[in-house]
This record gives sequence, structure tokens and C-alpha cells, in this order.
Amino acid sequence: MRLRSGVGGIGARVQPDTVRAFPDADAAHGCQDDGRWAMLTTWLTERFSLGVPVVSAPMAGAAGGSLAGAVSAAGGLGMIGVGDSTAPGWVSAQAAIAAASGCAFGIGLLGWARPDRNEQLAAVLDLPLPPALVSVSFGDATGVQRKLAATLHRAGIVTATQIGSSDDVRRALDDGFDLLVARGSEGGGHGRDAVSTLPLLQEVLDMTGTAAVPVLAAGGIGTARGVAAVLGAGACGAWIGTAFLTATESLAPPAAKARLLAAASTDTLYTHAFDRGQLLGWPAEFGGRALRNRFTDRWPGDATALAADGPARAELRAAVERADYDLAGIYAGQAIGMVHRAQPAAEIVAELRAAETLLRRW
Ligand SMILES: Cc1cc2nc3c(=O)[nH]c(=O)nc-3n(C[C@H](O)[C@H](O)[C@H](O)COP(=O)(O)O)c2cc1C
Repeated sequence: MRLRSGVGGIGARVQPDTVRAFPDADAAHGCQDDGRWAMLTTWLTERFSLGVPVVSAPMAGAAGGSLAGAVSAAGGLGMIGVGDSTAPGWVSAQAAIAAASGCAFGIGLLGWARPDRNEQLAAVLDLPLPPALVSVSFGDATGVQRKLAATLHRAGIVTATQIGSSDDVRRALDDGFDLLVARGSEGGGHGRDAVSTLPLLQEVLDMTGTAAVPVLAAGGIGTARGVAAVLGAGACGAWIGTAFLTATESLAPPAAKARLLAAASTDTLYTHAFDRGQLLGWPAEFGGRALRNRFTDRWPGDATALAADGPARAELRAAVERADYDLAGIYAGQAIGMVHRAQPAAEIVAELRAAETLLRRW
């Protein structure tokens, strides 16, 4: 059985009777895949020798080297999330941890934070074991995305960027990115609040068909059903954040993990309150999806008045320091409603692998 259909197509490497949907977590090792495991074959799995067409999203504050390495060792592609003020030394140390898995891993940078000026890009380019994939997302309109993509290309690194609208697609293609991540507005963390995953994915796949640029889907994908859905539509894999937030290896604080595990899919909202409340420099078009709390209730909309409200900002700062999530922010997407228990990342990847079984039902 082979279902390949060009870039982003899907196929199966082994016969159906050898399929094991849930291999033991420690036996799943996509980076050294020896053909024992059933595998959906897409541009993503072939380019990075993966066993599962899944990328764990770069999530600043949650996705360090341990999470990335665990996802990669389990057959996906694990990414490290680099925030706007992350120290370059942290990037090097976490990359070494991820690289110890012996598998391909990735790093996610924020374009607007100018990683070319704050030494983060230099740290990435200096790594003794370089990442296979670097994403540069959420850049402003100053041409920095194009410049960063070119620099990474010169270092032989595959580049990705997250897009949230058809205009973003045109810009990303023009900037020369190798891989596009169609990120819908139900996704966790920052991004556009413009189009949700399914309509965006269809639009992007139609737009990129002739350009033959591979497309990943992101936003709201929490289980194998979601992975199967986007593969069926023509994506070459899923880029998943929220479902890995409470993983054993995630750096999210325990109190935040407890709130995440208790949250329903209806408990998130799109907000600017935490960025404005901490005077962060995010471009206005990128708010973030987070768990709703008292602070987001108090500061709806674009929350621009927070810039002039010192006491409210001091209150938020104090709440962040004492991990009081009635006020402090926890970024997460609607997929949080599908996350019910803390699990090792390898177990999550193994469960997502069941997308293959779902796609074989017809
Ligand atoms: C807690 C959290 C932090 C995030 N941090 C980053 C980041 O540093 N860089 C980035 O490119 N994307 C970041 N994202 C967005 C993800 O890359 C991705 O778009 C999103 O998680 C996909 O939607 P999902 O959460 O529904 O899977 C973050 C998402 C979350 C939930």
C-alpha cells in the first residue's frame, strides 16, 4: 500500500499486517528507524528520517533540550523554543541536551526579537552539532525574515516559518523559506487571530501547490485524529505545541501544568494582556492564545491602556514571580481540552503515531 501524492503526500512503508499502532515508547526510534515500524512517509519523515510525521513546536518557557530530545528519540522532530530574551548560553546548553539523543532536532527563533542582533543566531550557528531545522516566526515587516532565512541556508540548515494568512504565505515564499507551517488561530501561544487551522491549511495547500513547498499544519492538533486529518488534507505533518506542554520533560512550572491538566477546550482566549502588561515588544498583529484568568478578564481586546497603568503591571509582575496563575499567563491552545494527564513525550509521540491506523480505515 502506497498513498504517496507528491510533496505532502502520504504513504506506508510496510504491509498493513505488520502495523503496530502503539509501539513501546522506548522501542520507537525514528532517527534510527530500521523499518520495523509502520510509517507514514511524507516529505517531513524522509527529509529528517523520522518515524512519525510530527514536530513538537518550539515553545519558549516549555520546550528545552530534554523535551526536544525525547520527541526526536521517539521518532518525531523535537524543537527547542527560544524566547525574545533567552540567553545565547541557554540555547547552546539546551541544544547539546537535544543533540545527545543522537537524532535530528530543531530550534525556533522569534523574528521580531532580532536573533541576529542579540547573539541567539550566532549561538545556533556555532553549535558543534547543528540543528536540522530552524524556524524563524513572527517577524515584523522589515525584511528580517528574509535575511535570517538566507543566513541559515548558507549554514546548510532547513528553514521553516509559521504563517497565519494568505499574505503571510506570499511573503514566506518570497523570503525563501523551505517549509511553511500553516498555524490556525486555535493554536496555543503567539500567532495571528485571523483564520483557523482547517480553512488556512486548505488555502495554503492550494496556494503552494505549484511552488512545491511542503506545508505542516499547526493549531488545535491534539491527538492522532488531528494528525490524520491534516495528513489527509495534504500536509506533510503536524506541528504540535499544546499537547506537549504537560509532558514530563516540559519546562512548564508544576503549578502551570496542574492548571493545564484541569482546563477544557473552552477555557482559552486570544489576548494581548500579558504582552502589554510586561511591556514586551511583540508586533501588534501577534497576540497569544492563553488560559483565560482574572487578568485577561480585566484586560480584554488589545489592552493598550496597560502601558500607562503602572500598578496593574506591577501586580502582574508580582503574580508572575509567585506563580499565581489567577493573574499570570499560561499560553495554551484549544487542544488543551484533549490533554488529561502528564505523560512522557515518547508516549505522546507513540499515541500520535496511530494516525496511520486511522488513515488505513478506508
Ligand atoms: C506555551 C507556548 C509557547 C510557545 N512559544 C513559541 C515560541 O517560542 N516560538 C514559536 O515559534 N512558537 C511558539 N509557540 C507557538 C507554537 O509554535 C505553535 O504555533 C502552537 O503551539 C500550535 O498550536 P497548538 O498549541 O494548538 O498545538 C508557543 C506555543 C505555546 C503553547
